[in-house]
Amino acid sequence: MSQVVMVAAIIVGVAALAALAYWHLVLAEGVYLGRRVVVWLYDRSAASYDRIKDFDPDDDADYLGRPLAEQLAGQSDARVLDVATGTGRLPLTLLSQPEFQGSVVALDASREMLAQAEAKLAAYGERVTLVHHSASPLPFADAHFDAVTCIEALEFLPNPDLALREMVRVLRPGGTLLVSPRVGIDRLYFPGRAPGLSTYNARLAALGLRNIETRTWQTYYSLVWATRDGVEGAY
Ligand SMILES: C[S@@+](CC[C@H](N)C(=O)[O-])C[C@H]1O[C@@H](n2cnc3c(N)ncnc32)[C@H](O)[C@@H]1O
Repeated sequence: MSQVVMVAAIIVGVAALAALAYWHLVLAEGVYLGRRVVVWLYDRSAASYDRIKDFDPDDDADYLGRPLAEQLAGQSDARVLDVATGTGRLPLTLLSQPEFQGSVVALDASREMLAQAEAKLAAYGERVTLVHHSASPLPFADAHFDAVTCIEALEFLPNPDLALREMVRVLRPGGTLLVSPRVGIDRLYFPGRAPGLSTYNARLAALGLRNIETRTWQTYYSLVWATRDGVEGAY
């Protein structure tokens, strides 16, 4: 092998490794390297997460907080679980809706993300409980919650199907599930973890959900609302 060919081969090899590392760590955010890597990456970026995401509070209220508060209207003791809550985006928009009088359990596997959430949600006192735990198995009894949400997170969980099953298990019959499947071209960064909407909705139906309704939301995430069917204890 000539020296030129050898140098070219090394350059191509290094470029391929760099591209692979970029996909694993930046595009796929560590999901194919295991839960610990995902959580480590979120721990590291927790302090800058909100600045990077630049959430629009009005948009969050229109698409998340207000519709969920409307679903739970009249239930003054409504219990909501937000799985993979991050810096508390869902609890914040829900608790700021005057018609919502219930409480929220905000669960995440990243301590640093929860620390950010704690600071932002302090004003809501005992209406918020932060739980440092993995999304599956969930440390709650069957049918415990009136609503379960998981926003912009399913594809980051080690086993999204198992996590969904767990969310449905802790949701009471008649309760509301709100999840956000990854859509658009971005979905291709997550082979095996971000199925198309029709596959997704078929899985929800198989888990005993009905009134499954998809709403267009962002370029890379849609919202799916659904109701758990069945009678308490039957799941
Ligand atoms: C993109 S953020 C979404 C956060 C929040 N739901 C939002 O909409 O801003 C993904 C979150 O999933 C959490 N996460 C990743 N793997 C997890 C796991 N196995 N169990 C629980 N949370 C996890 C991360 O720590 C991170 O906070």
